[in-house]
Amino acid sequence: PFYKSLIGLNQLEEKIRAHFKLKQVIVVAGDSDISPQTKRELGKAGSQVLGKMLRPNDVVAITGGSTLAQVANQLTAPAPLKTNLFVPARGGLGESLDYQANTLASTMAKRTGAHYRLLHVPDHLGEEAFASIMQEPTIREMVKVIRSARIVVHGIGEAAVMARRRKLDEKEIEEMAQEGALAEAFGFYFDKNGSVVHKNQTVGLHLEDIVNTEVVIGVAGGKSKAEAITAIMRFGHDDVLVTDEAAAHDIIAFI
Ligand code: G3H
Repeated sequence: PFYKSLIGLNQLEEKIRAHFKLKQVIVVAGDSDISPQTKRELGKAGSQVLGKMLRPNDVVAITGGSTLAQVANQLTAPAPLKTNLFVPARGGLGESLDYQANTLASTMAKRTGAHYRLLHVPDHLGEEAFASIMQEPTIREMVKVIRSARIVVHGIGEAAVMARRRKLDEKEIEEMAQEGALAEAFGFYFDKNGSVVHKNQTVGLHLEDIVNTEVVIGVAGGKSKAEAITAIMRFGHDDVLVTDEAAAHDIIAFI
């Protein structure tokens, strides 16, 4: 039975990889929605992919979330990554401390002997405050570093779930739903075709940076996220997808 399920996972990987023309797809057994063990495995697989992709001097930008926390907490390196730098991809998006990109960037760096830099900018800034923060030389310099990342590692969420978790107001959530938002990644909201329908005004990676980043790794699983993952794959700028069996089955049903 083990051998059989292994073949099943490989087939899922290859179908998804070929359909979205990805470089690599990894599918771990199970459903992260219901199994904490699967979610850990998902994070572990994500950390292993990242470890393999890393080259000396790389800047790695990461997003937040509970899945990326599993990646961060299991990341290891055979030798200290003295020339690598971990940074958050975006400013604060209203996540709890354990799931913030800043926290995860520092965890990853500490676990691997790399460096990290933090971006201390809150979300929900008014336009004036946003504009004036963007004038700050230290913030500008940090944004430049973030935008130079060769690798981006990100989670994927359902739009409504993420909007609530980030405490967007009901009116904004309603507008987004009208626009067909169903997936969230990098702080942007996407419809089912992978078009961006809503942007949060946060500091950090721009959409064109993601388009131009050499290595984009998405890590997301659970049956509930299948449609959201499909939308982000349709956006079409990921190179590697790490997901689980439950999501993979439904992704294949969507394509
Ligand atoms: O952008 C998506 C979210 O960060 C995913 O969060 O891993 O806690 O579901 P999650």
